[in-house]
Amino acid sequence: MSGELLVYINGEYYPKSRAAISVYDHGFLYGDGVFEGIREYDGVVFMLREHIDRLYDSAKAIMLEIPLTKDEMIGAVVETLRRNGLRDAYIRLVVTRGVGDLGLDPRKCGKPNVIIITEPALTLYSREAKIRGISLIISSVRRDRVDATTHQVKSLNYLNSILAKLEAINAGADDAVMLDDRGFVAETTSTNIFMVRDGVIATPPPTTGILPGITRAFVMRLARKLGYQVEEREITPFELITADEVFVTGTGAEILPVTKIAGRIIGDGKAGKITLKLMEEFEKECKNPANGVKVY
Ligand SMILES: Cc1ncc(COP(=O)(O)O)c(C=O)c1O
Repeated sequence: MSGELLVYINGEYYPKSRAAISVYDHGFLYGDGVFEGIREYDGVVFMLREHIDRLYDSAKAIMLEIPLTKDEMIGAVVETLRRNGLRDAYIRLVVTRGVGDLGLDPRKCGKPNVIIITEPALTLYSREAKIRGISLIISSVRRDRVDATTHQVKSLNYLNSILAKLEAINAGADDAVMLDDRGFVAETTSTNIFMVRDGVIATPPPTTGILPGITRAFVMRLARKLGYQVEEREITPFELITADEVFVTGTGAEILPVTKIAGRIIGDGKAGKITLKLMEEFEKECKNPANGVKVY
């Protein structure tokens, strides 16, 4: 594909360098909007329907009416990928409150802006880096409460995570574990977290204020299909740092082993056996047309 990538904005396609919206958009002024990050693997958009369902749930929670049906939205994502000739892509779907005045009142905003950005997928980590695993700190920034700006809503306001990410960067770690307001493990800044002990896999519940990840749900199903016991339960920081294996999941990260938390080596300091098995199965399943929507 030659030329610039095209960006979908409200039904029109603009070259990337001219894809712009107003500085009066409340997504920009107030973080008032919702989004999704999605992956296409070999011409199949992985879990697209599930991502679209979550987008509309997030929009419902902030009383934002998306001016497209779910099927129209799926069609727009597929068409944007086709126009850009992309088979392996990262897709960013954004719906903002739209253009308003300088006050907060969402009723002053006209129509929501719908934006679809598609880019060739980046390999975030090499295979060796994946197996070596990542290091985490335990952040002093607590995950927002479920009755506040909870990450259950995938909103355009990510400052809660960004503050923890800055702490991780300053400490020389790859990322940060965030605890809920009671001190239980929630998630990292942009991935869900799992631990393995005595062959049992555990991950924190949505009551800790996490974004219930699409990859998290997929990995839980995959692990159960492979015969592992999977629990959704509260996890203390102590349990996490003394676990046999820890890994994180997310659309961008896929499955990544964690080999150091707050200076403690996890397990034997390498990707664990169950983590590696899940990574191997995930690599096959993410390309399976049964797990997504075909673009071509
Ligand atoms: C805060 C947070 N948690 C978890 C995830 C992982 O969710 P998913 O697997 O749906 O990408 C994300 C991904 O964007 C995230 O931002």
